[in-house]
Amino acid sequence: MSAIPFTVSATDGAARTGALVFPRGAIRTPAFMPVGTAATVKAMYADQVRDTGADVVLGNVYHLMLRPGAERVAALGGLHKFMGWQGPILTDSGGFQVMSLSALRKLDPDGVTFRSHIDGSQHRLTPERSIEIQRLLGADVSMQFDECVRLPATPEEVERAMRLSIAWGERSKAAFGAPEGRALFGIVQGGDVAELRKQSARALVDIGFDGYAIGGLAVGEPQATMLAMLEETTPELPADRPRYLMGVGSPDDLLKSVARGVDMFDCVMPTRAGRHGLAYTRFGRINLKNARHADDPRPLDPESDCPAARDYSRAYLHHLVKTGEILGMMLLTWANVAYYQSLMAGARAAIADGRFADYAAETSKVWADGDP
Ligand code: GUN
Repeated sequence: MSAIPFTVSATDGAARTGALVFPRGAIRTPAFMPVGTAATVKAMYADQVRDTGADVVLGNVYHLMLRPGAERVAALGGLHKFMGWQGPILTDSGGFQVMSLSALRKLDPDGVTFRSHIDGSQHRLTPERSIEIQRLLGADVSMQFDECVRLPATPEEVERAMRLSIAWGERSKAAFGAPEGRALFGIVQGGDVAELRKQSARALVDIGFDGYAIGGLAVGEPQATMLAMLEETTPELPADRPRYLMGVGSPDDLLKSVARGVDMFDCVMPTRAGRHGLAYTRFGRINLKNARHADDPRPLDPESDCPAARDYSRAYLHHLVKTGEILGMMLLTWANVAYYQSLMAGARAAIADGRFADYAAETSKVWADGDP
């Protein structure tokens, strides 16, 4: 396998900071990857995403195979060119989205057949087809094809999906081969069962991946369960490979997961919240729909580097949100993605300085205090 260089430059407890280096650029870790499901981080220009400090964005096999189609993107020169994003792109393999979004789906040991949530047309994904789509898109990081079960689920159901995901991990690796400058990540499953998490991690490490994702979390379980599962899983993973917690989370989730050895995250939270009138800031979450902002001349954060957070009053943002103006969504998405990037930059600096516990405690306290 083409080893993508990953260097850990400092550790602080179980927290690490470093960089995963691709030909298209480095991903500084801990990293937050804005979600660009359909070849766009919704409501943002690619350059704007980059300027918030994001090194990598995420794309989705499921959405892109349905619209505009992987072969079409490939013929147009690949996903980077198509969406105007020069940095690394990580693509999710599709199974998770099939299970949560598609209309009808039927899983068998070979793959999954489903109907599009857009027009009802029938499609099929297997580990081999998912890897082929990710190659056509030109992903810098491809994800193995896996099955994630929602919690609560029985231990038998969790174990069946975990074993299937190991078999699909092997097939994903065989289909991937060893392309130069590209990485393939395995995905640990095992639900809320500690022993299954360990077995899954060990089996994937035996197969051997460039990095290891932790999937099947933030799917209905309490935060304490998620953190307990991380504590079972990260010690089983090789220290010299990146670890990615999929689909997580709130600022507090991110910092508590970094403290347990996680390096990478993605979540729709900052972008989705921005389209629903919510701002994430240094002072906590601010609901701009609330009438108490109607006469407030203060910006979200006068000291932010992000123009959206610094240069527009809360009163104006409230007005844009109340009137449903597109600019309201654009500004709040921008401010939220910038906040998440500053949170991660702060974590990297704090780990390097050996003061991560204090940084995490201060930030989590703000988030516990609610809506300033
Ligand atoms: N996104 C959030 N959780 C998961 C998961 O378990 N698997 C995949 N492939 N994507 C995810």
